Amino acid sequence: MSGTGLDEYHPGLEGVIANETAIANIEGTDGAGGLEYRGYRIEDLAGRVSYEETAFLLLHGDLPNPGQLAEFDRRLKAARAIPDALLTLFKQIPPHVHPMDVLRTSVSVLAHFDPDVDAAPTDHAANVRKAERLTAQMATAVAYRERVRKGLPLVAPRDDLDHAANFLSMVSGKAPSETMREAFDLSLVLYTEHELNASTFSARVTASTLSDLHSAIVAAVGTLKGPLHGGANEEAWKVLEQVGSPDNAEQWIKDALARKERIMGFGHRVYKHGDPRAAILKRSCAALAKEVGDDRWERIAEPIEREVTAQKHLPPNVDWPSARLYHYMGLDIDLYTPIFAMARVAGWAAHVIEQLDHNRLMRPRARYIGPPLREVQPIGKR
Ligand code: SDX
Repeated sequence: MSGTGLDEYHPGLEGVIANETAIANIEGTDGAGGLEYRGYRIEDLAGRVSYEETAFLLLHGDLPNPGQLAEFDRRLKAARAIPDALLTLFKQIPPHVHPMDVLRTSVSVLAHFDPDVDAAPTDHAANVRKAERLTAQMATAVAYRERVRKGLPLVAPRDDLDHAANFLSMVSGKAPSETMREAFDLSLVLYTEHELNASTFSARVTASTLSDLHSAIVAAVGTLKGPLHGGANEEAWKVLEQVGSPDNAEQWIKDALARKERIMGFGHRVYKHGDPRAAILKRSCAALAKEVGDDRWERIAEPIEREVTAQKHLPPNVDWPSARLYHYMGLDIDLYTPIFAMARVAGWAAHVIEQLDHNRLMRPRARYIGPPLREVQPIGKR
């Protein structure tokens, strides 16, 4: 392909600009990495805006005023119910099936019952309505499935609780403490959006064929599941569990690095000087550890962070602290990635809508390295 401008190959598309977006910037002001949602620094948003305000910002272009927020909140709460057919399916899918697989199925089923299912894929207003409904429904789907697989009675959504508190209430059966609610809401804000990560790229590629928003979100859920991406928060908890006690941490991580093991929750394709979200969530972990009266996991995490950063120059990413945070909230570890997905759906949908608003089919090339041209031999001669 030389001479056709097709001779540049970037494994894993590392460093390749595949889209232009007005949704998130992770270059940071000095190019050293930093996260902004539509021009607002994550450090300025964290702790000051709710997940609802963040989802509105991504889907509608700016932070809502009080009237817009009240109306958006009303729409989300009105959309929390899921179709009976999906609930029936939750009761038929074997309990051992991973919640990320069930969430992937859930998004597909939710599409069949969506009032805008027959809208044109490029219908902006219909896509925003679908996105708002999915944002509400995915949280209900994760919580209901959790209760069903545990043989527990369903906990109905509560209109007096915000998105974060309502999810925790539907999973555990009781409203969370304010510290828990605040920390969970913050984790959702931090997980909502991250430019052209693998799952967002999947969603945009799917949308670029003029497929529908739900199909794009199904593709994104399937992509996020992988342990190199969203599945890392579940794997990060397994690291902490394997270490087990602060006394083992230093030796365990030295041995693991000596074995060239990949430590889940560390490293990032773009952030080479630290993931700003990890630093923010680490503070929430300390606060929750204090509330639950057990700082053991913080004392295990510290030497691991120190060693991986010192030896491999790989700072922790968002999945490293979120694993501990969700443990403190009493959430099962296989819910960690579904929680990432139910937060990220607002970011995915914003990208799908942006793609469909100014679309061009995404179709990269591959460099052929297979067998040279050859003749077909009749079967008797093969
Ligand atoms: C998310 O892209 C996004 O924005 C994603 C995300 C989002 O919000 O959407 O931020 C969310 O997915 C965060 C990342 C979660 N994944 C993990 O924590 C899994 C563990 N991390 C890695 O596998 C890795 O760091 C990646 C996948 C995140 C990035 O990998 P790259 O850029 O492809 O780097 P690489 O695999 O080529 O590694 C370069 C070197 C290698 O060493 P050498 O072979 O050159 O000697 O760094 C080493 C790797 O072995 N390395 C690690 C490591 N990550 C990279 N070594 C030990 N532990 C690790 N975690």
